[in-house]
Amino acid sequence: MRLCAAVSAAKDYIETLFAGNSGGHGADHTLRVYRNAMAIAEGEICDPDIVALAALLHDADDHKLFDTKDNANARAFLKGQNIPEEMADRICAAVNSVSFSQNRGRRPETIEGKIVQDADRLDAIGAVGIARTFAYGGEHGRSLDDSIAHFHEKLLLLKDEMNTGTGRRLAEERHAFLLAFLAEYQKELEEVPQL
Ligand code: NI
Repeated sequence: MRLCAAVSAAKDYIETLFAGNSGGHGADHTLRVYRNAMAIAEGEICDPDIVALAALLHDADDHKLFDTKDNANARAFLKGQNIPEEMADRICAAVNSVSFSQNRGRRPETIEGKIVQDADRLDAIGAVGIARTFAYGGEHGRSLDDSIAHFHEKLLLLKDEMNTGTGRRLAEERHAFLLAFLAEYQKELEEVPQL
């Protein structure tokens, strides 16, 4: 990889940026998305530097966490790393195409955006997705039933919205685990004797 220094600086940057955030949107989420993205990138014709930096910066200006405009955090970081403006534009375009809520039904235009979107969605499903859903629910005072509703509103839809072959394959496995969890959850609720 040509931009090893910038990638490793981005890992340090997100540790500082997300210090104090746990659960759903901490640095640990970003690092899992980065690893998912690099695994997916291996099966695609793409620019791995753009994928790596877009994955590492994909939540750096998340509106739920930061009050920034126009990718200000990501751009300041990239400028500090002397990343050419044209490349910073491509990284930010990929970042901006990732969000579930802001891009409902629209697919990213670039392969790098598609890869990072798949990587982010993978972290929302499977065992990690379940853990994140309940952690987020706890942080926001939601009941278990509210968190279960989120499975139906969002998590179970993601499998059919993947962009890449590798992403789709990994999503199938994680989706199956979500269904198994929901079935077991329902079973336990029903088998408790009614008082
Ligand atoms: Ni994310």
